[in-house]
Amino acid sequence: MSKRITTDISEAARLLIDGQLVAFPTETVYGLGADALNLSAVKRVYEAKSRPFGHPLIIHVGNSELIDEFATDIPDSARSLVARFWPGPLTLVLNASDKVPTIVTGGQETVAIRFPAHPMAIALLREFGGGIVGPSANKFGQLSPTKAADVDRDFGPEVSLILDGATCTVGIESTIIGFDGEFPVLLRPGMITKNAISMEISKEVLDAGPMSPRVSGSLPSHYAPITNLILLEAIDIPRYLKSSAALRDVALLTFEPILEAHPSISKIIIAPKEPNDYAKNLYQRLRELDRVGANLIIVETIPSADSWDGIRDRLDRAAH
Ligand code: TXA
Ligand code: MG
Repeated sequence: MSKRITTDISEAARLLIDGQLVAFPTETVYGLGADALNLSAVKRVYEAKSRPFGHPLIIHVGNSELIDEFATDIPDSARSLVARFWPGPLTLVLNASDKVPTIVTGGQETVAIRFPAHPMAIALLREFGGGIVGPSANKFGQLSPTKAADVDRDFGPEVSLILDGATCTVGIESTIIGFDGEFPVLLRPGMITKNAISMEISKEVLDAGPMSPRVSGSLPSHYAPITNLILLEAIDIPRYLKSSAALRDVALLTFEPILEAHPSISKIIIAPKEPNDYAKNLYQRLRELDRVGANLIIVETIPSADSWDGIRDRLDRAAH
């Protein structure tokens, strides 16, 4: 394992204060951290990820009160969501305060803020004291990392240190909620569901229209493995394998074993049937399937219940 992978939180905080980039674990995925108020450090985050400047970053905070430092005109419904879901996998898009640098917001008037639940992230945020920008610690458009080693593979010396907080427990990126007045608007689905949000504040969750702010995860090709990926109903998989005579080296992610052996299958991973378990391992599974060197990855379609919305969103993008 590379020397820069450590559990030394004080060293990580010191490097952040020094303007360097530090990758850190959250309960969703690993983030690529920098001091949110250090313009040159934030610029290096975009550069390290090869991310266009128009795609804004989330500011991570280590306590809920910091929301008033980075945001203004906060709707009551946002405060209720903070009280219920923070720390946790929920990002709120709010009006940015004057303190937030333009480079963080991509020039928009809003800022995304999140208080993550991973104990190591909280310890780092508290020792650092301020806001830490943290896009997922992967190259733009690639699968997000859920282990320190994933981050290590993607980045060179531009990342000074990687805090090792084991495998992320949620496994896909946070739910992102914006606001239309007091009404919540779903900008990116995640494991905190629309239903859970709606129940908490007794308000309908609106879907983001074409006028919604840019969410880079909303590019169709986001979160994609390199191997071509398609989604198929279980019942259609055997037929598909048989119908394409030229098909070879297919990797599968299904809920049940494929009963009929087929010569073109080079790997099958059986997925858990519970959405939290499925999400936790999703990116590791896709990386595994990607590494087989298959010509095609087939993923069995998932249940339609809203607890699967975040997972469905990531699979649909991976399938583009
Ligand atoms: O779970 C997560 O949210 C992870 C961990 C590390 O916290 N972070 C993450 O960051 O997924 P990133 O940068 O990969 O995705 C954040 C998304 C982007 O699609 C970005 O465009 C959107 O949030 N975003 C940031 N600021 C925004 C704003 N002001 N309005 C709309 N979308 C915004
Ligand atoms: Mg990302």
